[in-house]
Amino acid sequence: MQLRSCFLFVALALRVTAQNFEPDDFNVTQALVDRGVNVTAIPGLSSLAGQSSNQACSIACNALQIVYGSNYVINQSQAAYDTFTSGYWSLNQANVNPYCIFKPSTASAVSVLVLLSRLTQCPFAVKSGGHAAFAGASNIEGGITVSFELLNGITLSANQKTASVQAGQRWGPVYRELAKSDVTVIGGRVSEVGVGGLTLGGGISFFSNRYGWACDNVDSYDVVTASGALITASAKDYPDLYWALRGGGNNFGLVVNFNYATISLEGNNMWGGTRTFLESSFPQVVNAFSKVVADAEQDKRAGQWVAWLSYGGTKLAAAELWYDRPDGNKSNIFNNYYTIPAVSDTTQNRKFYGYTDDVQSNNPYGLREIYHALTVKADSDLASLAKDIFFEEIPSVANVAGVNPVLLYQGITVPQLQKMKQNGGNPLGLSASDGPFYLIHVACWWQNEADDAKVYQMVSRVLKRIKTEAESRGKQNDYIYMNYASMFQHPIESYGATNQAQLKSIANKYDPKKVFQTLQPGHFKLDRAPVPNSEFSLE
Ligand SMILES: Cc1cc2nc3c(=O)[nH]c(=O)nc-3n(C[C@H](O)[C@H](O)[C@H](O)COP(=O)(O)OP(=O)(O)OC[C@H]3O[C@@H](n4cnc5c(N)ncnc54)[C@H](O)[C@@H]3O)c2cc1C
Ligand SMILES: *[C@@H]1O[C@H](CO)[C@@H](O)[C@H](O)[C@H]1NC(C)=O
Ligand SMILES: *[C@@H]1O[C@H](CO)[C@@H](O)[C@H](O)[C@H]1NC(C)=O
Ligand SMILES: *[C@@H]1O[C@H](CO)[C@@H](O)[C@H](O)[C@H]1NC(C)=O
Ligand SMILES: *[C@@H]1O[C@H](CO)[C@@H](O)[C@H](O)[C@H]1NC(C)=O
Repeated sequence: MQLRSCFLFVALALRVTAQNFEPDDFNVTQALVDRGVNVTAIPGLSSLAGQSSNQACSIACNALQIVYGSNYVINQSQAAYDTFTSGYWSLNQANVNPYCIFKPSTASAVSVLVLLSRLTQCPFAVKSGGHAAFAGASNIEGGITVSFELLNGITLSANQKTASVQAGQRWGPVYRELAKSDVTVIGGRVSEVGVGGLTLGGGISFFSNRYGWACDNVDSYDVVTASGALITASAKDYPDLYWALRGGGNNFGLVVNFNYATISLEGNNMWGGTRTFLESSFPQVVNAFSKVVADAEQDKRAGQWVAWLSYGGTKLAAAELWYDRPDGNKSNIFNNYYTIPAVSDTTQNRKFYGYTDDVQSNNPYGLREIYHALTVKADSDLASLAKDIFFEEIPSVANVAGVNPVLLYQGITVPQLQKMKQNGGNPLGLSASDGPFYLIHVACWWQNEADDAKVYQMVSRVLKRIKTEAESRGKQNDYIYMNYASMFQHPIESYGATNQAQLKSIANKYDPKKVFQTLQPGHFKLDRAPVPNSEFSLE
């Protein structure tokens, strides 16, 4: 009896603390003063105090300039402004014009940014590698774009078990640095993609069959909350926030540091490359793809994707095959691919970091871009049909300048799904017992804005038709992978009603004033697609 009341008391106390992560009477001005920002000394600031004003961003950017100086704040009249915006991967994001660009070099400057945004109501976006494709994801029209580029530290722990990577880093430099110690981390397959976006949305790596996704290999996140607090979320501390950050995107805080569990990679050596096949071999390619997904448990070192495309009118299937140690072609798992005659083959032993540079070179900057995605249960008939649908639909964009549509297949394998459960699980809503799955997405680039609608029409028609086929065969799955989703999609909803509600309640606890929902409006929010109710959504 006594024990029970004691337990009750503890539970109540915990609940109270939980509700009070940010007190109701939290004073933003005082929080700034506590961080050394003399609010009364900055023109326009003290009179604002949370009211919106058309001067909001002028005042906020000016305040940042006064506090941090012109090395850290760039406005529209400086040459560095255009250099910065042209550094986004897609033209859709490069064409967005922020009021100013802020480059924090400390976690405390990130806190000040959040608090200044709250005080002035000037909205912001944050950029890690800038590879999210659609406008507003990591750049904001008329607001403050926060570039994490100066937060670029890479620190390996003394026992080499953890690599602490700051939010502005990109995968190439991370892998090169860690290679010096024969270790690496679970991250992207393209060198210039940022650690921030990829990890917060999930993160599929060359090594995911053995270790799981990037988000399932983060020991802890150092995160600046809406109240400007810097806390470390792990399976042990703030476990609810830790769970939410494993796929919940930019809705919970600004992560300044990702502390990844390392894996060993002797000599940075692996194997991989592309085997390219003609249309006459497509049935065998579909078969080989489905077999590698189905056999994933038998050889977890292997991975693959297949890209379907048309090159100068010739239909091709480009199978990217990889193995997490040299001589992957000796593994039986790829046998079905090796019996198909290839028109070209670049598979070879490689350094991991060099491999990510090679894949980077196939993904040029400066074009309009869309990724649009869905998930189905593994089924080779459906895979066969899906590529036929794609090839039927792409003639509708044949006249679009610079167009390059590609249909991509990847497996969400059972070993990957099993790793999603480690350290308390993640919110993606995928379970190994329903798997494996195929992740199918269309990636397309083109040149001119005038063709946007035509391209959106085509990519959405392809996926709608595949979805309809999946439904009629009982192979539909709701999951939408955030990192491949278009602005017409709503990944958080796709995680399932329970997980979406849980994510909202965690956001409510750490961000009761909805700072990351309203003052950081870009990318995938908890309750909406970036472009809601579009005819191009798959609903
Ligand atoms: C060429 C290319 C290759 C790719 N390869 C892979 C791959 O191998 N595996 C895979 O899984 N995905 C891959 N992707 C998809 C990729 O994961 C997403 O595009 C991802 O959003 C890119 O992250 P980023 O940091 O570069 O993007 P950004 O545009 O900088 O950020 C994306 C979103 O995350 C938010 N964000 C970034 N950092 C933080 C932070 N520290 N705190 C809070 N919010 C933050 C941003 O505000 C933005 O909303 C690839 C994409 C491209 C274009
Ligand atoms: C908030 O803090 C500032 C600075 O200390 C103070 O001037 C102001 O009165 C406080 N506001 C409220 C509502 O307490
Ligand atoms: C803050 O700025 C005001 C106005 O410039 C000044 O009077 C005051 O002394 C400053 N306070 C601190 C703590 O520096
Ligand atoms: C832009 O920044 C430059 C350099 O710091 C400064 O001289 C200029 O006054 C600023 N312009 C505006 C409009 O803020
Ligand atoms: C694997 O590839 C190497 C060349 O990269 C080649 O010498 C070897 O014969 C291949 N092995 C098999 C089993 O195909």
